[in-house]
Amino acid sequence: MRFFLDTADLDEIQEAASWGVLAGVTTNPTLYSRIGGKLDDFQAHIKRICDAVGPDCPVSAETVAMTRDEIVRDGRELAAIAPNVVVKVPTMVEGLAATRTLADEGIRVNMTLCFTVPQAMLAARSGARYISPFIGRFDDISEDGIDQVAQIVEAVGNYDFTGSTVNGEQIEVIAASIRSANHVTKCALMGADVATVPFGVLKKMVKHPLTEAGIESFLNDWEKVK
Ligand code: E4P
Repeated sequence: MRFFLDTADLDEIQEAASWGVLAGVTTNPTLYSRIGGKLDDFQAHIKRICDAVGPDCPVSAETVAMTRDEIVRDGRELAAIAPNVVVKVPTMVEGLAATRTLADEGIRVNMTLCFTVPQAMLAARSGARYISPFIGRFDDISEDGIDQVAQIVEAVGNYDFTGSTVNGEQIEVIAASIRSANHVTKCALMGADVATVPFGVLKKMVKHPLTEAGIESFLNDWEKVK
C-alpha cells in the first residue's frame, strides 16, 4: 500500500514528504478552500504542490466543471501545469465521457466520489487511471464504507483494464475519505493500492502507547548503563 496525503496544505505536504513515506497528494475544492485558496491562485498552488513532492508523485487536482466539454477543457489546463498532475473527475455520465477523451490524449484521471462497484466498473472502462471510493462519507449515511471499498478492490482486480488506461498502466484503487488509522488497517488488509489520508490520520498511524512506553523505558534504562 502506498500513501497519498489528502490535503492542499503545503506545510503538511512538506512535512509528510520529509518522513519519506509520501507517494502522492490528493486535493479537492473543499481542501483548497480550507487553506484560504483563491481561484486566481489555484493553478499556481497546484504547481507549488507538484514542485514540493517531485515528478514521481501524482498530484490530483479536481475539476468543478459539469459538462463533458468543460471537463475536458479543465482537464487539459490542469494537466498542463505539471507532468505529475492527475485530473480528478466526479463519477457521473459527463465525467465518464470526458475521462475517455482525456485518457485518449494521455491525460491521467482520478475518478472521484465513487461509492459502488458498478460506478467503479464504469470508471475503469472509461480509462480512469485511479478510482477513489470514499469510506467515511459512506459510513456517514449508515452504510459500510469499508465493505464497499473491499468489494470495489475485489471487482477491479477481477479484470484487466490496461487496454483502457494511459500507456496501458494498471488501474489503482485509492481508498479515500479515510477518517482513522483503523480504516487504514482495513484497507491494507483488503489490498487497496493506495490510501489517501489527512495529515491528522497520518500522524496517528505512527503512534501506539506501547511504542511510546517502550521508548521511554529504553531511554531510562540506557541512563543506568551510562
Ligand atoms: C479524496 O480524494 C477526497 O479528497 C477525500 O478523501 C474526501 O474526504 P472527506 O470525505 O473526509 O472529505
